[in-house]
Amino acid sequence: MSPAALTTVSQPARVDVCVRLMRAEDLDRVADLYCEAATEDIHDRFFTIGRHIVETHLADLASVDGPRCLVAVGHDDQIVGVVEMASVGDHAEEVALLVASSLHHHGVGTTLLAAAVEDARARGVCLLVAEVLASNHLMLDVFANAGATLARDGGEVTVTLPITQGDVHA
Ligand SMILES: CC(C)(COP(=O)(O)OP(=O)(O)OC[C@H]1O[C@@H](n2cnc3c(N)ncnc32)[C@H](O)[C@@H]1OP(=O)(O)O)[C@@H](O)C(=O)NCCC(=O)NCCS
Repeated sequence: MSPAALTTVSQPARVDVCVRLMRAEDLDRVADLYCEAATEDIHDRFFTIGRHIVETHLADLASVDGPRCLVAVGHDDQIVGVVEMASVGDHAEEVALLVASSLHHHGVGTTLLAAAVEDARARGVCLLVAEVLASNHLMLDVFANAGATLARDGGEVTVTLPITQGDVHA
């Protein structure tokens, strides 16, 4: 009798990345990340059809008033993800992520969000917020795993992620 067939459930390998603040010399590689992203990913990121918004957004990232960006750097010094934070009020920032389309489900988004939380905490930010399409389960899962509250309103979900400042005692 032949041995019973085994079903192998393969887990996506976690990709090791180093997360650091974006530098001016990273801009070309961040532009490549956006330009090479799948059209669906651009839609999930900006809620708009077409890629025309990418050019405007890249100009925004390059501007001194642009969002604060952390990049995930993989092997060969490749930039495989970016998380952006922009002020939306007192001690509150809107956060948005983009991970290279070929590397989804490898832990990069989770790593980037954790780094963004630590970066925000260190700057005294108390709240991260995001607007996410209700169909974007991957992004919602990453936020939920980080402890965020999700409030659905039609096709969009408002995400709130309070940041505790820790026990700092004099
Ligand atoms: C949404 C996005 C940022 C998520 O990034 P990601 O790198 O794919 O996310 P992660 O890999 O960290 O997590 C995704 C899932 O993979 C799982 N995962 C990660 N590493 C894993 C591993 N080694 N083994 C098993 N599962 C793993 C995570 O747990 C998570 O699944 P779960 O929530 O069911 O547990 C990315 O898909 C993206 O760039 N999308 C397009 C842009 C976009 O939607 N931006 C959001 C605008 S706010």
